[in-house]
Amino acid sequence: MAKITLNAVSKSYDKRAVLQNLTLTVDHGECFTLLGPSGCGKTVLLRLIAGFETPDAGVIHIGDDMVAKAGEASIPPDRRDLGVVFQDYAVWPHMSVFQNVSYPLKLAKAPPAELEEKTRKAIALVNMQGLEERLPSELSGGQQQRVALARALVAQPSIMLLDEPLSNLDANLREEMRFEIKELQHKLDITVFYVTHDQEIALAISDRMAIMDKKGKIRQIGTPVEIYEKPADLFVFNFVGVANFITVNKQGNTLYAGTGAQAIPWEMPEDIASAAMNWIAGCRPSDVIIARPASVDKSADKGADKYLRGVIKRASFLGAMMDYLVEIDGAHLRTALETHYAISNDLLFKEGDECAITFHNLHWFDAAHMSEITE
Ligand SMILES: Nc1ncnc2c1ncn2[C@@H]1O[C@H](COP(=O)(O)OP(=O)(O)OP(=O)(O)O)[C@@H](O)[C@H]1O
Ligand SMILES: [Mg+2]
Repeated sequence: MAKITLNAVSKSYDKRAVLQNLTLTVDHGECFTLLGPSGCGKTVLLRLIAGFETPDAGVIHIGDDMVAKAGEASIPPDRRDLGVVFQDYAVWPHMSVFQNVSYPLKLAKAPPAELEEKTRKAIALVNMQGLEERLPSELSGGQQQRVALARALVAQPSIMLLDEPLSNLDANLREEMRFEIKELQHKLDITVFYVTHDQEIALAISDRMAIMDKKGKIRQIGTPVEIYEKPADLFVFNFVGVANFITVNKQGNTLYAGTGAQAIPWEMPEDIASAAMNWIAGCRPSDVIIARPASVDKSADKGADKYLRGVIKRASFLGAMMDYLVEIDGAHLRTALETHYAISNDLLFKEGDECAITFHNLHWFDAAHMSEITE
């Protein structure tokens, strides 16, 4: 079973804690992504799993084998049944594609026939046949990336550790490669542990993902849909997807949106309405419902009393979507509307237009946590 288990793992450098008491399980055959901001400790965690670092506390298992325990000798990287693609994907510039890919087998002293066969197979897996004799300098960035992937796959590991393997590619290639990684995962039935700060990639390829904060603490683990739809806290909400915030200020028993005089016009959940604190209401662009003030005013069944009033500050046409920036008394919201829908419903706004706004969905966060995401 190609399962990875970390139990209460900690790691410091020069007394500065990078990871503290981290517990995590990656299941067999799963594509698990660790997503977090730059410098939060993702590469450190990957190096601990790979065996290039040892934990100061805690235990790491790969399958049923304990590969590392603080204070004890650990199993070296080449005996952990892993393929690793590092952040800089370091292919050796003086070696051909074939030599690069076959290198791990050469180190393991594989017999020549086996080395030849496995290397050709790995090269075919990443669609690089015919380029075996090229040097990295004669390859595109995406092709070099494939060489690094093939090299990680050549020894037929049951686990792949990928550290930001697509960061140097342009957007199109990145999209193509992420599908290919998914395909390889299924074709080879391997476990993939993928580290990135790119939320789009993480949402697209993960079976499950973990969100790590700047202090190396895991805030939430779940499927991409769970993380996106049910964020555990403000940090997760802000880090994954486009996040809109409205400050909600309490005066007496009334809640006001933004800095202005508009009371929130819809019924509030009791625990939020009664709490003696200020809230931040968060929503995605797709959660915002936008209408013409005149159309909601004259139609009681559209619930005119459920709309806040705002002004279009910016209108951007993105082809398939209209992207509006709306201001409601100091709060700025991005909204996304399908262009066809906007045209057929008289919702093509221009800058300066007044609009009426309500929401499909709002997430409520304690305003005291706002400093976590603005600092
Ligand atoms: N060998 C080391 N010695 C001292 N400090 C280190 C060492 N390796 C990492 N660190 C520190 O640990 C912290 C986490 O680094 P890490 O490389 O894991 O970040 P990351 O999450 O991978 O960031 P990025 O997204 O930029 O790659 C950083 O503050 C880094 O400076
Ligand atoms: Mg890193």
